[in-house]
Amino acid sequence: MDPHLNQQNFHQTLTNEHFTYFTKFYCYNSLESTNSTAKELIEKDSQHGTVIVAADQTKGRGRYARQWVSSPGGLYISLAFHPIPPQKQYTLFPLLAAISVHFLLQKYSISSKIKWPNDVLVNTKKIAGILIETETKNPSKPILICGIGINVNNDINNFPSKLLTSATSLMHETGRHIDLLTMTTRLIHIFEEHYTQLIQKGPEEIIEHWKQATDTLGKHIQITQQHTTIKGIAENIDSNGFLLLRSSSGELHRITSGDCINLK
Ligand code: BTN
Repeated sequence: MDPHLNQQNFHQTLTNEHFTYFTKFYCYNSLESTNSTAKELIEKDSQHGTVIVAADQTKGRGRYARQWVSSPGGLYISLAFHPIPPQKQYTLFPLLAAISVHFLLQKYSISSKIKWPNDVLVNTKKIAGILIETETKNPSKPILICGIGINVNNDINNFPSKLLTSATSLMHETGRHIDLLTMTTRLIHIFEEHYTQLIQKGPEEIIEHWKQATDTLGKHIQITQQHTTIKGIAENIDSNGFLLLRSSSGELHRITSGDCINLK
């Protein structure tokens, strides 16, 4: 949220907008993490289709427990699902969220590329990250949270210097200020549109959109997992959104998760 947009305005506008799935909105000036608050709220009150937005986060989380720098000016949002969608659908959530951000940026005439599974890049630098988390400690109440962070109006001078070679903001790339309330509303609509496609028609369209938007396929890449590193050509993705990587020995690896680096 921009400092001049108060949270009440945000809450009212989102509540008055007609969304298909998302009906409950919580908007904050500052949170530790929208994903953490999403879990707490759903544990208390089992609403399907809850959205949490914050103007900044003090403990924003990234994949593999990394920090997600969440300075003011960014869009920090969590979309919460309870009950969680069937596994066949939720493995595609990283791709679904990434194409939603890609199409969102198209609405602002900004072209982006997706790096497997779900980093969104503008001019080869990371503009958005996605963190899908499930909480199953109460087996009768499993929760899926789709957290999306987009560097929108952030001043990149507030980024730690080590991030400057790999991350950027839309403001820095385009020189334009973007209204975060409009952008949030559009993102929820786009996400819902593709989510509806997924549950009604299956994964094909999401996979096709993702393939159109990625710059990973066909590239020589390296995947780092907790204890292993695999290099090879990113050949395809399967119907779960998993990466099919052909190593130099000719073996085809099915990669479910990991950090991806383009080697050439
Ligand atoms: C990554 O690229 O490592 C994922 C970053 C995800 C950041 C978003 S911001 C909103 C939500 N709340 C969090 O704490 N993380 C996600």
